[in-house]
Amino acid sequence: MVRRQPLLTAKSIEAKSLSGRVPQAMVKRSVTELGRIVEGTGWYWEPTGPFDWSDVFSERGPVEIDVGCGKGLFLSRAAERAPERNFLGIEISRRYALIAARRLLVAAICNAKVAKADARAMFQSWLPASSVAVVHVYYPDPWWKRRHKKRRLFNEQFLQSVVRVLEPAGQLRIATDVAEYFEVIKELVARSGQFGPSEPLPRDELKDDLDCLSNFDRKYRKEGRHTYSRLFRRLDTPNRER
Ligand SMILES: C[S@@+](CC[C@H](N)C(=O)[O-])C[C@H]1O[C@@H](n2cnc3c(N)ncnc32)[C@H](O)[C@@H]1O
Repeated sequence: MVRRQPLLTAKSIEAKSLSGRVPQAMVKRSVTELGRIVEGTGWYWEPTGPFDWSDVFSERGPVEIDVGCGKGLFLSRAAERAPERNFLGIEISRRYALIAARRLLVAAICNAKVAKADARAMFQSWLPASSVAVVHVYYPDPWWKRRHKKRRLFNEQFLQSVVRVLEPAGQLRIATDVAEYFEVIKELVARSGQFGPSEPLPRDELKDDLDCLSNFDRKYRKEGRHTYSRLFRRLDTPNRER
């Protein structure tokens, strides 16, 4: 009979971590505990209505948004690479938003923060219009089942609100592992008439195989799964008639 190792409980992991046997990053913390660590630090924020960028970032600079930033791997790396730019992660899950904010706090990254919010409300009316240089949407939830597809982030309304928020020539960068969702997004973008021809997503910033776009990008690359990505540039004078 194979004897299994007893599973580590949150308490035992914490104890091992304190004794230096488990890296801090692997410790699974409760939402309450994460909240205690990051709330009120300035890295975590729960917006409730419209705001100006000067209320969010202390330094002026082009703004990039990571929609559904998850645990914040892309957010933290991108912000570290471009300290002259400001990065906002928007994440609907409080747990993930807190984890992403903690990542920024631990690395003391001052040009990025996380908003715990529904990106649809943020883009619809809370984010300042024509003010964002790049919108990143990496591996949005695919909602496989036919009856759940209406829950997908990308639809005509969301795309219009992305156009509202992007500066002229601002970029929408997307990646997904779902071929059918990729086609839907390309079709929505083409039908909107608000973007130029699509371009390959630049991955030249990635240093090596371990570097990656995001947590999901890393996972899928490890699995050898095919992924689809694209960059769409907003037209200088979007067709507002549509
Ligand atoms: C599949 S994960 C991808 C996470 C990350 N972008 C990555 O590539 O590793 C999708 C994320 O989007 C978040 N999300 C889903 N709907 C959202 C919404 N309406 N607003 C903000 N975040 C959302 C989910 O909570 C989840 O963390």
